[in-house]
Amino acid sequence: MTRAFLDKQPSDVASMFDDVAAKYDLTNDVLSLGQSRLWRKAVARAVDARPGDRVLDLAAGTGTSSLPFERAGARVVPCDFSLGMLGEGKRRHPRLPFTAGDATRLPFADDVFDTVTISFGLRNVQDTEGALREMLRVTRPGGRIVVCEFSHPTWAPFRTVYTEYLMRALPPVATAVSSNPDAYVYLADSIRAWPDQPGLAALLAESGWSRPAWRNLTGGIVALHRATKA
Ligand SMILES: C[S@@+](CC[C@H](N)C(=O)[O-])C[C@H]1O[C@@H](n2cnc3c(N)ncnc32)[C@H](O)[C@@H]1O
Repeated sequence: MTRAFLDKQPSDVASMFDDVAAKYDLTNDVLSLGQSRLWRKAVARAVDARPGDRVLDLAAGTGTSSLPFERAGARVVPCDFSLGMLGEGKRRHPRLPFTAGDATRLPFADDVFDTVTISFGLRNVQDTEGALREMLRVTRPGGRIVVCEFSHPTWAPFRTVYTEYLMRALPPVATAVSSNPDAYVYLADSIRAWPDQPGLAALLAESGWSRPAWRNLTGGIVALHRATKA
C-alpha cells in the first residue's frame, strides 16, 4: 500500500473500501473533527437539487453523501464500484437504488442526469479525465457537475500546520479508530498528490465541462468545484 499504491489500481482501491466499509462513516467524522458534516451541507447547497431532479451521486460509498439529495425530493442514484460499500449502504438505506458501476465506464445512457456529483471519490479514480468525460456524457445539456474533494489550504502558514496534522497525526489516529489504518496513510499521500484548485478546474475544462469555478471550504482543506454541460 502507501506510495506504491498511489497508482490507484481499480481492484486495489475497491478492495481497500470493501475493508473499511463498516466503520467508514464513523472514521470520517472522527478524522475530519466533525467538519465532514459541514462539507456535506455545502455540497447539498451547491447541487441545489429540486423535487424530481435526477441526480447521480458517483462514488457514493455507503450512501451518506446521497441522503441530502433524497431529502430534497430528487431521484438520486448512488453508484460505486466497491461491493462492500454498496452492501453496507443498502443495509442502512434499503430504499435507495444503489448501483454498481465504475466511474470510467458508467452504466447509464447519455444525457440522463440533471446533476452529477462526486464527493471524496474523484481523487481515488485512476483516470480522472476519463471519469470527468463519463460524467459529462451522462449529464443532460445545461446540467451541472459538483465535485467535492480534498484540496490545498490557501494560506501558507495554515497549509504547513495542516500538512503536519495530516502526515503525522492521521495514521496514529486511524490506527485507533479504523479497521484498515493503511487506507488512511494512502488518504494522506493521495491528498498531497492531488491537483490544487486551479489544477482541477483546468482538468474539468480539458474534459469538456464549461465555466469551471470553485469555492474553498475550511480554508481550502476541501474545495467544491462546479461546471456546466454546454
Ligand atoms: C472516500 S469514499 C466516499 C464515499 C461518499 N461519496 C462519501 O462522501 O462519504 C470514496 C468512494 O469512491 C469509490 N470509488 C473509487 N474509485 C471508483 C471508481 N473508479 N468507480 C466507482 N467508485 C469508485 C470507492 O469505492 C469509495 O466508496
